[in-house]
Amino acid sequence: MIIAASIQAVKVDFILGIDREQSKNWRIIGESMQLKQSNQELLQIEYLATVATGQNLVKDDGKDVIEGLTKTPKSLPSKYFYDRQGSQLFEEICQLPEYYPTRTETAILQEYAPEIVAYTGACELIELGSGSSTKTRLLLDAYYQQQKSSKYVPIDVSETILQASAIELQKEYPNLPIQGLIGTYEQALAYYRNASDNTRMIFFLGSSIGNFSAAECDKFLEEIATVLKAGDYFLLGIDLQKPAAILEAAYNDAQGVTAAFNLNMLSHLNWRFQADFNLDLFSHQAIYNQDQSQIEMYLICQKTHPVHLKKLDLTVNFQASESILTEISRKFNLETMEKDLESQGLKPLKVFTDPENLFGLILCQLSL
Ligand SMILES: C[S@@+](CC[C@H](N)C(=O)[O-])C[C@H]1O[C@@H](n2cnc3c(N)ncnc32)[C@H](O)[C@@H]1O
Repeated sequence: MIIAASIQAVKVDFILGIDREQSKNWRIIGESMQLKQSNQELLQIEYLATVATGQNLVKDDGKDVIEGLTKTPKSLPSKYFYDRQGSQLFEEICQLPEYYPTRTETAILQEYAPEIVAYTGACELIELGSGSSTKTRLLLDAYYQQQKSSKYVPIDVSETILQASAIELQKEYPNLPIQGLIGTYEQALAYYRNASDNTRMIFFLGSSIGNFSAAECDKFLEEIATVLKAGDYFLLGIDLQKPAAILEAAYNDAQGVTAAFNLNMLSHLNWRFQADFNLDLFSHQAIYNQDQSQIEMYLICQKTHPVHLKKLDLTVNFQASESILTEISRKFNLETMEKDLESQGLKPLKVFTDPENLFGLILCQLSL
């Protein structure tokens, strides 16, 4: 059923938190949306919670926030960085001189995207944590040039950036079917458990895998191997181990954008869960934990005080100097990662790096 009355535009605004101007361009079909303009059959945006379960939109229940804030030491899942403002700040981080990962991975893709296409041939491209899909355009261009484009599926928990980038991509690639999926990695992998005759390549760029602990990483790779069928591909971007000074500079930039990004997690919780975090009472800290080969990003409480999260019926008493761990960003050894992938049946076909070995891109195929 197509719903087009103006009251429904309000509903879209409410569900998605998207701009009113933008929502006029959409029509709602069930719980999915299609762009009203040309090629609308080629662009679809859906909620994974809906398509995966057939249920109505599942609201975030915040159990993970309660769990993280009631244990010692406190932590919060890094997915809460990404609301509209957080996604915007991440885009700014990608442009910072200290933040080498984005420009290095971009350079690798610029050089090797055609080779990746030559390995995989035509396939459905499924991107986890797609964000603005900026680097993805290098892959899409290469598939297009070799006439191997079939379908692009960007998946992201951040609704606003997913919509904005899907609209842009539809303009840039008017003949490419795009199915944007709003939801978490977990939901995405549950959705993709259904077998498909199409060849698929799941890709996970930006070293987002570094946000998982070692155990979570193993589980994630196992899931990827379960979801793919023999002969399908997995392309993984990983940040490599390097001197602490380079790493710490990348997460403590001179302009303070990473600090704003870290603190924005609290504003996100304020609107999502009706919380009353005072951002002035927390400060950003990022350190490299050499033993664990990981950057650890914290918010440090400056003063003993309570915080209420009304929607979660939760009051948290913070002590001065107490920390909340908001992100780990593990730094990898290429050979170790290759072995980990191989042990899950994800056979590395080719490893691409930059001349300074700052970043690695591994193309794997699920063993036949
Ligand atoms: C570090 S950014 C990387 C963006 C892009 N892939 C890149 O390489 O520049 C991580 C992206 O993953 C999304 N994200 C973070 N946690 C997620 C989760 N649990 N499920 C789905 N998406 C997530 C964020 O919204 C963000 O767009």
